[in-house]
Amino acid sequence: MVPGRLATAFEAKPNNLLVAGRRDCYIPTSSSSASHKPLPHAIKTHHQEQAHTLSQSSVEFALHRCLEAVYINTPCSMALLIKPSGNHSATKKKPSLPPRDLLFLLVVVAGRKKVSIGCVASSSSARSETPSSSSGGADVSPAMAAAATHVKAVATIKVTVGGFLSSLRPSRAIDDLKDLIGRSLYLELEKPTLRSYAHKVAVNDDEVTYEADFDVPADFGDVGAVLVTNEHYFTEMFLENIKLSSDDSSSSDDVSATAAPVLDIRCNSWVQPNSGDGNGNGDEPGKRVFFANKYPLCARYRAFGTKWAAPLVPAAATGTNGAAGSADQTPAGLVSYRKKDLEEKRGNGHGERKSTDRIYDYDTYDDLGDPDANPDKARPVLGGSKQFPYPRRCRTGRPMSTKYPDTETRKGSNYVPRDEAFSEVKQLQFSVTTLQQVLHAAVPAVQSTLINPNLEFPSFFVIDKLFEDGVKLPKAEDLGFLRSALPRLLQTLRDSPGDQVLLFDLPANVKKDKFGWMRDEEFARETLAGINPYAIELEFPLKSKLDPAVYGPAESAITAEVLERQMGHVMTVAQAMKQKRLFMLDFHDLFLPYVHKIRALKNTTMYGSRTIFFLCDDGTLRLLAIELTRPASPTQLQWRRVFTSSTDTTESWLWRMAKAHVRAHDSGHHELVSHWLRTHCAVEPYIIAANRQLSEMHPIYQLLHPHFRYTMEINALARSALINAGGIIELSFSPQKYSMEISSVAYDKLWNFDTEALPADLIRRGMAVEDPNAEHGLRLTIKDYPFANDGLLIWDAIKGWVKAYVARFYPDAGSVAGDVELQKFWNDVRTVGHADKKDASGWPALDSPESLSHALTTIIWVASAHHAAVNFGQYDFGGYFPNRPSIARTNMPVEEPMDAAAYAAFLDNPDQALRECFPSQVQATLVMAVLDLLSTHSPDEEYLGGPETAPWNDDGEVRAAYGKFNARLKEIEGIIDGRNTDRKLKNRCGAGILPYELMKPFSQPGVTGKGIPNSTSI
Ligand SMILES: [Fe+2]
Repeated sequence: MVPGRLATAFEAKPNNLLVAGRRDCYIPTSSSSASHKPLPHAIKTHHQEQAHTLSQSSVEFALHRCLEAVYINTPCSMALLIKPSGNHSATKKKPSLPPRDLLFLLVVVAGRKKVSIGCVASSSSARSETPSSSSGGADVSPAMAAAATHVKAVATIKVTVGGFLSSLRPSRAIDDLKDLIGRSLYLELEKPTLRSYAHKVAVNDDEVTYEADFDVPADFGDVGAVLVTNEHYFTEMFLENIKLSSDDSSSSDDVSATAAPVLDIRCNSWVQPNSGDGNGNGDEPGKRVFFANKYPLCARYRAFGTKWAAPLVPAAATGTNGAAGSADQTPAGLVSYRKKDLEEKRGNGHGERKSTDRIYDYDTYDDLGDPDANPDKARPVLGGSKQFPYPRRCRTGRPMSTKYPDTETRKGSNYVPRDEAFSEVKQLQFSVTTLQQVLHAAVPAVQSTLINPNLEFPSFFVIDKLFEDGVKLPKAEDLGFLRSALPRLLQTLRDSPGDQVLLFDLPANVKKDKFGWMRDEEFARETLAGINPYAIELEFPLKSKLDPAVYGPAESAITAEVLERQMGHVMTVAQAMKQKRLFMLDFHDLFLPYVHKIRALKNTTMYGSRTIFFLCDDGTLRLLAIELTRPASPTQLQWRRVFTSSTDTTESWLWRMAKAHVRAHDSGHHELVSHWLRTHCAVEPYIIAANRQLSEMHPIYQLLHPHFRYTMEINALARSALINAGGIIELSFSPQKYSMEISSVAYDKLWNFDTEALPADLIRRGMAVEDPNAEHGLRLTIKDYPFANDGLLIWDAIKGWVKAYVARFYPDAGSVAGDVELQKFWNDVRTVGHADKKDASGWPALDSPESLSHALTTIIWVASAHHAAVNFGQYDFGGYFPNRPSIARTNMPVEEPMDAAAYAAFLDNPDQALRECFPSQVQATLVMAVLDLLSTHSPDEEYLGGPETAPWNDDGEVRAAYGKFNARLKEIEGIIDGRNTDRKLKNRCGAGILPYELMKPFSQPGVTGKGIPNSTSI
């Protein structure tokens, strides 16, 4: 066969079957085609203006692709076009650089006899493709080859369940064939490009290994990046890493002097099949670039922007300290790839995202409501307005409702960028096992809904029986209203085997003390060592900031007389204030404006509440008084009353009911503010901004990346089933449909970036004061405050690690201020991701290594330790719902105007009245199951400072700093264990007290009540 011309363009018509996966070959289906013929029967030319000279082997390759189609019995006729070349001399000299599309094919052909790799060094000033040779070896000239070093690239592909399942699809056959002929993975080393197909060399249970070889010329320089093309037609691949090693025959000296050193590129990313339509419609992901992460290069890559076109410094001339001189230069060989990769991740802001996309963009929370399904499910847009300021979430691009144009429709699943999705281990754990439990458990519940969905538990005995008898799994079709709340669960259920009984584990606090929920001292202790340690504050005198004309007097009804009586007259209120002994849970201003709105809903109620504690000499808190307030309305006067413990039995029962209301308020504050808003919701903009503005080669991206794991996915699931209209939060918590609105109010009134740092948070709440002579620079107001004491250990450990890391890359203020990508990232966080608070106080300028370290420490603290503190004890403290009811459904029986019948019923059976106030059976079991799920560590959890996320650049100082971080965290585990056995620390050690372990860094899988994952991942 003579050299020919191959048409690179094709006409994508309906019914065409894209076979080659590129622009080089397109096979239309045809009723007249002869699938029985061994070879394609029609070859003709068109689009001559785009044709390019190819070698004989190119044509063979093209035919080979057609053969693949024949082999899999695809009815086809050929549209692959070949005709004799008009210039045979083109084969005698190096061809001019062909367009990029065809270049791939050329390289592919050249690499047929030997696996090829395309590589680009980092030092050249322009990207120049190395012409291919006909030798079948690496794409280098003979002279260069003589001085070249043989380098082997080993790429590891993780075998996934998705991959396994995909084998069930017909399309898999095509990809199997590609694997067979060794053309499924295509690698290029960056600059100037060397290329090679990688061939499969090993298949294990959980990974497939591909190898490619190439010869790196002597003047190649450091390898800056590897380009990867997944040549499968349909199968995406999860690429774990690529390891480059030099030829064993080369001396180590030669390697370091002339060619690519040993390089370990951690990819951990999905590479999509190269099967686009070629029309730029987003269906053709094309090459993926994975940047090298050698320290000198990485340091030089940290900045990118105005100075990148400055004179270049070859990588080899940089020495080992990239922090000097060339700090803000990106080697030219990588500039275009760096820029292109960020552009791809930013997307164009249009269209609906597909599950295979890796585009990070912002949107408001306009997808919580579902008015198309039910007008009652209309919800306001959170974010983008003064009324409802909110952080931004990931844009999915789903169409807006035509009838409700402010609302995004909820069809399909919530998009997250492909690499943000759960690993399959996590997916299995989440969807098959634990979520299944949610469904199963949700629902003695569902059975009771057939009778009365608001039914309370008939007795405390029945509550206890939940932990003994378990819950029978209902059929999916019997799930009633939960079908819309739990679509993922329903799918899981359909895939699950038949009926089974689910047993709830006894929550840890009940194991320690079954009656702890009734005792005031446990109520108080949990404000310091429970699941919501972010609420208690030093605040006295008690004064509302709300408008007194609307909400009544600003002063509290809790008088000095009441407090001094409850304090046993050991001191006056003035003395107690002076000694900083009076503390409060203040759920007054947050909830009071919503009291009447919530009361207009069915089966719930609301008060504003203030709860006062006295700090005793032994460091414990004594619960003194609770004030419940109902503001005035057009039809009612204000009502408020102070409740205290009492020797009067009636007052004592009222006291229990008042505590139930405060605990429900605390549960709402915990889930809506401390947990959802301050961690899950506030972190998502950091993730989006980092991916839009920081290249994956940027050292700060690499520092933050482990702390973003799975957050977007779990948030998408939350929008799908937890925080949406009619979701579990609305079903089970007192504010019901106003739950998310209240979190918006909290964001408006309470959230500032600077006070998300633990020390600043403690100072803001009056729980600590600055003291340069004290440990951590803080003196705690309550010395035995387990969360603060342990949290500060973790805060300081993170701070030390981040400071060392930042110092390695940023030697001075100018290097921070001049880092264009970094500044863009920070600007994005403030002005786009948190746009509604962009003018609020508390945003530091990133203008020095110190300010950068502090901001990064804050982000990492929030994503890891803050989240762990409020997340992984949820089942321990809330699994037995009388200890933390998510909702209080009935008014106090003494509320005026008095309901005589209700009061009489209360006097007759106060136990019944309390159970009616508690969550219904549906609500309680649903929340128990969800808390069990949310408190679970996945088997593939990655913990703070753990080995899985050790920095993978090769700098000794960075590695040493991480090692020190890891060692300190292990040390902290021992310190915490010691504190939990110290009898002097009565808020964490004593009879029936659950040790405070939520700040212990490491854990086993499951519900353990300890362990700090790197990220907000559940
Ligand atoms: Fe969480």
